[in-house]
Amino acid sequence: MSDTEASTSESKPVVVYIVPTRIQKKRLKDIKSGARRKKLSVVESFGPRVTHIVSELDNRYKVARKLKIVDYSILKGMELLKLTWFTACIKKAEIIPVEDEHRIPEPPPEEESAAPLESLQQITTTEWACQRATPLRHFNEIFCNALEVLQMKAEFVDSGQDHLRSLAFRRASCVLKSLPFVITNVKQVKGQKDIGGHSRQVIKEILAEGFATEVEETLKDPWFQKVKLFSTIFGVGPATAKIWVEQGVNTVAEAQAKCERKNWMVQWGLAFHDDLIDQVQLIEAENLTAVIRAEAERILPGVIVTLTGGFRRGKSCGHDIDLLFSHPEEGKEVNFLPKLLTQLEQRSLVLCGKLEKSSYGDRVLSRDYNTKGHMDHYEKWLGLMKLPKRFCHEKINPSEYRFLMSNNAPVRGIETCTADDYEPHSKKQRLCEGEPSPITLATSPRTWTARRVDLVIAPYSMYYYALLGWTGSKQFNRDIRLYSQKTLNHKLTSHGLWNFELNKKLPASSEEEIFSHLNLPYQQPSDRNC
Ligand code: UTP
Ligand code: MN
Repeated sequence: MSDTEASTSESKPVVVYIVPTRIQKKRLKDIKSGARRKKLSVVESFGPRVTHIVSELDNRYKVARKLKIVDYSILKGMELLKLTWFTACIKKAEIIPVEDEHRIPEPPPEEESAAPLESLQQITTTEWACQRATPLRHFNEIFCNALEVLQMKAEFVDSGQDHLRSLAFRRASCVLKSLPFVITNVKQVKGQKDIGGHSRQVIKEILAEGFATEVEETLKDPWFQKVKLFSTIFGVGPATAKIWVEQGVNTVAEAQAKCERKNWMVQWGLAFHDDLIDQVQLIEAENLTAVIRAEAERILPGVIVTLTGGFRRGKSCGHDIDLLFSHPEEGKEVNFLPKLLTQLEQRSLVLCGKLEKSSYGDRVLSRDYNTKGHMDHYEKWLGLMKLPKRFCHEKINPSEYRFLMSNNAPVRGIETCTADDYEPHSKKQRLCEGEPSPITLATSPRTWTARRVDLVIAPYSMYYYALLGWTGSKQFNRDIRLYSQKTLNHKLTSHGLWNFELNKKLPASSEEEIFSHLNLPYQQPSDRNC
């Protein structure tokens, strides 16, 4: 293992990308499968995770050209190595130290000057984002972050209207996210249909100045800051946030004091805002998933429990925890969710929430060709859970956790209820007389943190569509749904795929099958970060 570390900077795991040029297809395939058998990590596409580039090309310049790299600095911290190095690693079943002789040499000086590297790399990309990989980490963060500030601003300004303006910024950002090189000249994006004039201007200014004035001003604008802050409160969207700002509310504490009757979500959201504003970490999400899986398995053996949302796309933090349930035997999932919630309450994990009944019927799938928004019709629970603070620090053993919590009385402020009580608008979400208010609860000493959790249950026949939908990202969903409609006359939702030509739904027993129904190359969850 120390060999591995010796050959890389710091302790980054070695990730190899093989440039396919000049390697016979069969040989390449054998090398890759050999590497995987020996547990060496080889990826299919070049991206920021790559630490070692392996190639048969005879100089570094040619490799950079092949990878469409116009800016050598991307290669900083990466090794460019001859294929012989990697075949030697496979033979030894470990990463062998890099010697000078393994490195691909610089080009002869004449060649470099004959075709300068900064010759502009024009963007060529697919028409739809779902046709290409959009990784989480990419080369153009500085531009994407700026464009996404403008997306957010447009979303706030236009809230209640359509989102065309804000989505235009997002589409531009998504093109840049999928590029295997850093934009160095605005001419590179010329003629790119998803990058409009406004976005081009932003890119141009960043290239020239290092920042875009409009973005800097937006970030400093108190109106923007307040709408953004209030929009993060559980139960508050941009429309309400804007009203509060117009009413002169400046801080969360003022909203707490000033705003008249709020619904249950807003009351809890305001009270626990300090908890909810800080991002949920992957370890917390994994711990909660493990504890809930253990409870779920007791209630319904064979139940499928999947952590979806941003965490499934490889994010290390997020604003909530999205859990999807199903059971391979269709019908077994009926009544499961209320039972699970009762159990979780007894384990003192539930703070507040609301169970929504399923509103699905096949009509839902075929109807409403032009569905806006992304809310689906599954039975689901939306609410806040109480995650013990130690969920943040260590991996929890679910059985030990169950033993610990079984000695706990149900939390005050929330009565334990039976499965039947879990109905929409049940007393669950009301605050009962004589019980501590959310704010009292939030400000009392406690050993837990409030976290946003969504629990969704899907019948198995829809499970893979639910998985695709709940994995997201939201922008990926928008894109793949619009693509399905415009190019195939199919309607895709979290419930299924409707073919309007044949007037029937297309079942799927894997995510791969959904992509194949749609004539799309399969994208891993980690490549759906549009
Ligand atoms: P989130 O809003 O949690 O997004 O919805 P996220 O990507 O996980 O973001 P963070 O990391 O928590 O901040 C998760 C996915 O579930 C879909 C959304 O479109 C999103 O892709 N979703 C949400 C549905 O499919 N149906 C719904 O009713 C709600
Ligand atoms: Mn999420």
